[in-house]
Amino acid sequence: MSHIDARTVPVDETSRARLAEGGLDYRIVSGDALDDFLRSSARGFLGEEPTDAEIAAERELFEQTRRAIAVYDPTAAQPYPVATEASWVMSLAIPGGRMPMWAISDVTVSATHRRRGIARAMLEGELRAARDAGLAIAGLTVSEATIYGRYGFAPAAPASEITVDTRRAGWGATDPAVRVLFVEREQVAADLEELHERTFAERPGDVRAWTNRWRQRAGLVEGVDKPRQIRGVRAIDESGALVGAMAFRVNDGESFSSHVLEISHLVAATPDAHAALWRFAITYDLVSTVRADLQATDDPLPWLVADPRGVTLRPHDHGWLRILDVPAALRARSLSGAFGVRLRVTDPIGLADGAWTVAQMGADGVRVEPLADGERAEVTLDIGALSAAYLGSVRLETLQAAGRVAGDPEKIAALSDALRVRTAPRLSIWY
Ligand SMILES: CC(C)(COP(=O)(O)OP(=O)(O)OC[C@H]1O[C@@H](n2cnc3c(N)ncnc32)[C@H](O)[C@@H]1OP(=O)(O)O)[C@@H](O)C(=O)NCCC(=O)NCCS
Repeated sequence: MSHIDARTVPVDETSRARLAEGGLDYRIVSGDALDDFLRSSARGFLGEEPTDAEIAAERELFEQTRRAIAVYDPTAAQPYPVATEASWVMSLAIPGGRMPMWAISDVTVSATHRRRGIARAMLEGELRAARDAGLAIAGLTVSEATIYGRYGFAPAAPASEITVDTRRAGWGATDPAVRVLFVEREQVAADLEELHERTFAERPGDVRAWTNRWRQRAGLVEGVDKPRQIRGVRAIDESGALVGAMAFRVNDGESFSSHVLEISHLVAATPDAHAALWRFAITYDLVSTVRADLQATDDPLPWLVADPRGVTLRPHDHGWLRILDVPAALRARSLSGAFGVRLRVTDPIGLADGAWTVAQMGADGVRVEPLADGERAEVTLDIGALSAAYLGSVRLETLQAAGRVAGDPEKIAALSDALRVRTAPRLSIWY
């Protein structure tokens, strides 16, 4: 993976000039100004005024890795920026490997400055800056599913919210040999990080995280609600190796015998560890409901319990991707089988459009070459549709039925087959 430090990527000149026409100043934020940036972002996400300790913890993360970019209105009464946005380069798991992704977060526009094109200028500026820095893909997690499609993003790495009615579900016949042991919160944070680092690349759509994300899941950073409620367990196999970890809390339910066990994060390196941690949660005394979000859409849990109707899986969009460079993105991932398709990609903001022959014959890997003069495309789709299908979580035929892909049905099926994957894509964290 190439090592691009997002903090060294300059502000996009086109967006800077567009915002300057409206009297606004678009610039990279560093040093003490990060404190006001973080206060503005917290307000934008409807949070409380952050404490000095919360600001200090976040500021450290920004100073070490993140590019903070903000819009200032010189006429504002407070020194806060009126819009915020953060980015950094993060490793994304893709079929057959990993690739660097331009991660975007902290997108807020002050309630006093909304609906006048500030977010559009920031987002378009970010995507141009990322493409110019050589990134082939950008990603984000979203507050609302209606905001980012217009910029070419699409849901690509889904997740499932799992709810278990423990008394109905019970446990099936699987008897994992893995042992589950309580550990302190410091230990579970370290275990989650170690296991995630070891395993995330096995699941397309997942990303490498950062230490504070695990400390937050374990209730160890400022700002976590009722941190002392969080408990941790680890899973150890017969050889003594660490194979799983889970942070969870037990909340009040309808009665003392009906508590709700909320899984904050569960990571398992083996099927046995996965089964052992779920059995531990489902058979917890005085608990009638277990809930866990951000699980895989192909999670085997319904097959592990006695009554699958006690388990509800609600799949939902989670990881959104936006291809910035079609040839580079297609060359980066492994594709299945032999195929050849002439492809045209449209892009609402003109960053990644073009037409190519995409072909894979024998063991040489994928070939992506611009269409020659006079060659006609067989399949046409927009950049969001290609981004949605990139990890294989949705077939192109489904997007064709939704009017997002057009062309020769056999060629659509051929490209769809080439993009298919064995493991359902999933993103396991918020970022
Ligand atoms: C979402 C948010 C950043 C938009 O900022 P904004 O400056 O008002 O957006 P813009 O004026 O640039 O609007 C750009 C486009 O997005 C649309 N849009 C803006 N906010 C939207 C929303 N919440 N839902 C759907 N569409 C939205 C606009 O209609 C506009 O569409 P168009 O350009 O295709 O006509 C802002 O409302 C906000 O801070 N919300 C709260 C925090 C949040 O949810 N951030 C997103 C985190 S993932």
